[in-house]
Amino acid sequence: MTTHRLTDRLGGLAFGGDYNPEQWDAATWKEDDELMHRAGVNLVTVGVFSWALLEPEEGRYAFDWLDAHLDRLHAAGVAVDLATPTASPPPWFTLAHPEAMPVTPEGVRLTHGSRDTYCLAAPAYREAARRIASALAERYADHPAVAMWHVHNEYATLCHCEHTAAAFRDWLRERHGSLDALNEAWGTAFWSQRYGSWEQVQPPRATQWHGNPGRSVDFSRFFSDLTLAAYREQRDAIRAHSDLPVTTNFMLPGYQTLDLWAFGREVDLVAIDHYPCAPGVDAAADTAFGADRARSFAGGRPWLLMEQGTNTVYAGDRTLPKEPGDILRHSLGHVARGSEGALFFQWRQSRAGAEFFHSALVPHAGADSRVFREAAATGAAVGRLAELAGSTVHARAAVLHDSDAWWAMNVNGLPSAELDYHGSLRRAHRALWDARVTTDFAHPEQDLSRYRLVVAPALFLLSDAGAANLRAYVEGGGTLLVQPFSGAVDERVQARLGGYPAAPLREALGIRVEEYRPLAADAELTLSDGSRARSWSESLRTEGAETVAAYTDGTLAGLPALTRHAFGAGHGWYLSTRLDDAAYAALVAALAAAAGLGPDVPGLPAAVESVTRRAGDGRRWHVLINHGSDPVTLPEPAHDLLTGGPLAELAPGGCAVLRAH
Ligand code: GLA
Repeated sequence: MTTHRLTDRLGGLAFGGDYNPEQWDAATWKEDDELMHRAGVNLVTVGVFSWALLEPEEGRYAFDWLDAHLDRLHAAGVAVDLATPTASPPPWFTLAHPEAMPVTPEGVRLTHGSRDTYCLAAPAYREAARRIASALAERYADHPAVAMWHVHNEYATLCHCEHTAAAFRDWLRERHGSLDALNEAWGTAFWSQRYGSWEQVQPPRATQWHGNPGRSVDFSRFFSDLTLAAYREQRDAIRAHSDLPVTTNFMLPGYQTLDLWAFGREVDLVAIDHYPCAPGVDAAADTAFGADRARSFAGGRPWLLMEQGTNTVYAGDRTLPKEPGDILRHSLGHVARGSEGALFFQWRQSRAGAEFFHSALVPHAGADSRVFREAAATGAAVGRLAELAGSTVHARAAVLHDSDAWWAMNVNGLPSAELDYHGSLRRAHRALWDARVTTDFAHPEQDLSRYRLVVAPALFLLSDAGAANLRAYVEGGGTLLVQPFSGAVDERVQARLGGYPAAPLREALGIRVEEYRPLAADAELTLSDGSRARSWSESLRTEGAETVAAYTDGTLAGLPALTRHAFGAGHGWYLSTRLDDAAYAALVAALAAAAGLGPDVPGLPAAVESVTRRAGDGRRWHVLINHGSDPVTLPEPAHDLLTGGPLAELAPGGCAVLRAH
């Protein structure tokens, strides 16, 4: 295990981004040195897409150019997060190893021309990746510029080729033990899918109609494990030469190809890339959503925002500008929630290549631009926050998040196409964010006792262990809100029999769901408390719970819609329909308030987001962001690290980092 902390090395928080000097000339490098100094850049990620330059032919390395850049950066006082370039194999690799190119579910083998074109199960790819990682580590382990290692970039390329099929079968053998167990787990008696030999088992390739749900979820689990094995291989190759921190950057918020809880345990520092897809206050909420997930994957430890943009990325079908002040607000939004800095993709906007209009710290217009001025101001702000390094954030509310449940909710054959794992997760987090309650994400099987409120927005798949854990959480005094369609299947993706959700959880909720009743697209319901709902309903009966709100329309009129059960020392709530946004937010806010939860800094208007970072020695800092259009007077003036003086009033859109007494 590494003993080096990135922030010790940097002497504070990190500011900078991906730096691709190979796209530029000597005059630009000179300007880069000067502009990085002006912007307070202290860390750049180098080499992410440099494989073709580093290894121009198989086995022949060309490191001189990288030596020169690392020397230059070191002389300029900029540390380097040195990447392995394995996300983008060079053209020679593709030609020499066509069988290592990924195959789509339809059987199309992809060719060179973009990036991320490789198969993680192909021995030639794995060997080439391990070799270049090892060669880089051997050469640069002792280079004074190098502060950490960055394996690959945003692992996510799925493949359905024969290498993958063979690896999938090995994984299945390991997980299920025997073919009989596999047949049983996947329910292959349905549609004549019974496998008589392992060779008959295929990855979920294109097929005539719905595929098998058990196979689909097992393939997702397999792919995540395969990816983790590929990561470990590179990490260990680096570790053989260096004891600096090693990481890989997770892609957030909406991609779901990896079990990031498992990855969080293997990296030295969790790093995320986060590109909000909406402008304005939605981007701020999205920033908190990404940051809280990162901190949770890191087990509460500090983590690092590895990439963000100076624009939003693809808000639907276009990139939208970040409005003045957003670059600072989003950066501090991440720092508030535990990031050890704010990095960007990328330093200088490329003039050519696939992402030539992707935003950057130095835009095409150059340094005489709003974007660079805001970037430099943000760098200066981050530079004043050194004392926050190593401090952490303590949340008392959690939203349950499990990759198995996410993958399971993507299978075909579910009762409604409106079921949306990621949307439900965001909505739950957003309701808590709107209530200004700092929130973790938690796995359903982890110890939940530190949380006063746990929300389970979309636990379609729930293991026996998870159901027992949630029951114990309520019994021990917690407040749990479980939402529709939860606990419907077990870890094999088989339906729970005898009533939903999974039996031990049902006891804590004091209800039994008999029937799922999705609603027509235009149907709207009014519940007995006046709140409106749509999209989904359930026929349930109480078994100990009290009805808080009942259905009033149609077949379900008079039956429970929202229930509450006093169980042990806690309370289990069950919501069986999809409330409209306002009613849902009000419910979550009321549960949070009843559980004694509120903003980290009390006494501020709702427009102000406040998060407290705490050091092990008792020091605390409040990060404030005013999302409103009015100035806010602070309850008492405090020392603001951003201005270096006392602060009594927070401007509209303004940020502060206050030293707490
Ligand atoms: C990711 C990648 C970068 C870049 C950005 C674009 O985060 O890591 O290389 O493609 O997306 O938003």
